[in-house]
Amino acid sequence: MSNEKQTTEKPWGGRFSEPTDAFVERFTASVDFDQRLYYHDIQGSIAHATMLAKVGVLTEQERDTILQGLKEVQDDIEQGRFEWSVTLEDVHMNIEARLTDKIGITGKKLHTGRSRNDQVATDIRLYLRDEIDIIASEITRLQQGMLALAEREAGTIMPGFTHLQTAQPVTFGHHIMAWFEMLSRDYERLMDCRKRVNIMPLGAAALAGTTYPIDRHLTAELLGFERPTNNSLDSVSDRDFAIEFCAFASLVMSHLSRSSEELILWASAQFNFIDLPDRFCTGSSIMPQKKNPDVPELVRGKSGRVTGHLISLLMLMKSQPLAYNKDNQEDKEPLFDVIDTLKGCLKAYGDMVPAIQVKAASMEEAARRGFSTATDLADYLVVKGMPFRDAHEVVGKAVAYGVESEKDLSEMSLGELANFSEVITEDVFDVLTLEGSVNARDHIGGTAPAQVRKAVAAAKEMLAVR
Ligand code: ARG
Repeated sequence: MSNEKQTTEKPWGGRFSEPTDAFVERFTASVDFDQRLYYHDIQGSIAHATMLAKVGVLTEQERDTILQGLKEVQDDIEQGRFEWSVTLEDVHMNIEARLTDKIGITGKKLHTGRSRNDQVATDIRLYLRDEIDIIASEITRLQQGMLALAEREAGTIMPGFTHLQTAQPVTFGHHIMAWFEMLSRDYERLMDCRKRVNIMPLGAAALAGTTYPIDRHLTAELLGFERPTNNSLDSVSDRDFAIEFCAFASLVMSHLSRSSEELILWASAQFNFIDLPDRFCTGSSIMPQKKNPDVPELVRGKSGRVTGHLISLLMLMKSQPLAYNKDNQEDKEPLFDVIDTLKGCLKAYGDMVPAIQVKAASMEEAARRGFSTATDLADYLVVKGMPFRDAHEVVGKAVAYGVESEKDLSEMSLGELANFSEVITEDVFDVLTLEGSVNARDHIGGTAPAQVRKAVAAAKEMLAVR
């Protein structure tokens, strides 16, 4: 029997007397999905080998041989020359076996003072940290698109809704800036999550730490981590950071889903507030007239999928005793799918939002039809000295008359309005117009076009220093 194992054999095969059952081999393998960690796995190994040489566990020559070998393995993977083997279970053992094929016995020294348990936890954190940075810039790009749209439509009037019933006139730019606020909170949550992702478990080894004189601060520094983790048992079992990320993603998706619902309503013939460019829509194979808002509908649909993955991860972790359990291998597919789905939705939204075409006349008409300035009339009566509850009653009667006579408040004559209260005079028409109504809400957070423009300017400054 040779001492050299071939790559078809298990690196852990020493104590086993028969080969793994073929089905069990497939069933327990993760290489089909964890190979996407290859780059970060190699980065982790480079740092680990560098540290081992610094503390004298590897010679400098061994280190250089390993680093050269890892570089070749990376090239093989990136040039499509790497054959992933299910027998070798996961990305970690595949890469290590290929390294040993290339450089011989020195390759077997790479795993000194390390376990796949701390290795995989490190890989996921490194991978997720990079994805977080990509997602952060996608959020910023989408927010920039929102600002462009809000600025363009700062003075465009639409009905604001509560209970999906016309409430008060608002500006379309103000509505879009509400979306912007949701994403600003999401961005902050992501940055906060990143802090807890960016801590290094490597050095925990299997669960208890290692007998070698490792320098975890050095490895952490080489990998750009904030610091090493504090407890080895926690290090290999903690997946809180992945759950937090999925919670962040679920909330973003919930926000995009709400915006999608609005876009779908607004694009309908019944609302007729906006047009989505054809490139974001599809048609029907049977109804020739159809132009369907597929992008917002799919985003709305995908929000359920992302939240589902969040629940999967919470359930995955909730009953696991310390420290590492094979259950943890199930963390990857949900997490990866959340990342892919979220990036897809942010990309689609980032492209679509600045291209939304607003039908300003139709929006304004809808605002006029819904008695949206009724509160303004009540406020007018209060200014003239009437208690608010009485004013509410007076305006209610005026609206009832409007419904019956099919007239908006602003379409009634002074004579008609004065029937409801003698304090109403000619100046009432200043507050009954839609412009008067939105312009009057001229304080921080209000819907006045001037305030929307201020909000956009402040938001631009905020994005500039991200
Ligand atoms: N493929 C494993 C995972 O994804 C790597 C760690 C395996 N560790 C072990 N002791 N079996 O979690």
